Amino acid sequence: MKTLVRTARAFTNIALIKYWGKKDQTLKLPWTNSLSLTLDRFYTDTKLTVADNDHDTVYLNHKLLDETQNKRILKYLDTVRKFYSFDDHFIVDTVNHVPTSAGFASSASGFAALAAAINETKQLNLNKKELSILARNGSGSASRSIYGGFVEWIAGDNNETSFATPIDENPQIDLTLLSVVINKGSKKISSTVGMENSVKTSPFYPNWVTLVASEIKEIKQAIAKKDIQRIGEIAEHNAMSMHALTLSANPSFTYFEPETIRIFQIIQELRQKGILAYATIDAGPNVKIICTNESITKVQKYIEEQLSNVSCVVANIGSGIQYI
Ligand code: DP6
Repeated sequence: MKTLVRTARAFTNIALIKYWGKKDQTLKLPWTNSLSLTLDRFYTDTKLTVADNDHDTVYLNHKLLDETQNKRILKYLDTVRKFYSFDDHFIVDTVNHVPTSAGFASSASGFAALAAAINETKQLNLNKKELSILARNGSGSASRSIYGGFVEWIAGDNNETSFATPIDENPQIDLTLLSVVINKGSKKISSTVGMENSVKTSPFYPNWVTLVASEIKEIKQAIAKKDIQRIGEIAEHNAMSMHALTLSANPSFTYFEPETIRIFQIIQELRQKGILAYATIDAGPNVKIICTNESITKVQKYIEEQLSNVSCVVANIGSGIQYI
């Protein structure tokens, strides 16, 4: 009898303390721990079928990917085959429920869903720690999308010791996120390349490693106290410090667009008016704003009044890997 293969679903996450730099490129071992919040709005569904030949085929949003587009996934499947000593090739069917305009990278939810789908199809019976390790080998930030809520990725120093662990999977906290999208197409410098350049050439990189260690400690205390203001302050400072590593790289680069700076100024104006809003920005121009249920409507209204060419998406706290 054929066993029913379920689809794996993984949600994306937003780092409050960023992962920015690897000490091992192949294993994707980071220089620092990082800490994120899994979101409920944006997710990837992936289903694997064992192929009856010896090549992998990848469909993204029901379209067949060509050799350039599927390169990273094929390389990952080769790594997994070697690691778990099997020969099977797959038909990968993956659908991104990340609105194209939401401004979230799909590699976190994408590789977390792919790792979980491999686990399901090959019946590897991996526990969540092992799944996180498997997802990390695809994309660092994917290691955190195995869990819901607040999640910490422990840097570790080899394949077995670098994995994510939950801090609070179901936090009862009045925190909600507004993603402000500046439509600028795909980014010119990927996170992988951007972080490598920062590690190699920013004179401030050693300071970043020290800063992250203390900010992780502080933000965990703020999370335990459900102190959203403090969480926002730390997350904003951490994000800006990460972007300082791109500006201080040699040659220097930035993910900011003029609207990114404008939104950041608006957030400062909102805070002067007593409205809770803090910015965090990944390797792209879009700004994610940490709000409360009370402040989010005011923040969205104010931004839409000031800037006509941006769109906003609201997200709440999401859960970990699901099989459907
Ligand atoms: C700015 O996980 O996309 O979003 O491991 O090279 O695939 P690779 O990088 P990736 O980097 C994410 C960078 C970030 C910060 C974060 O999510 O922690």
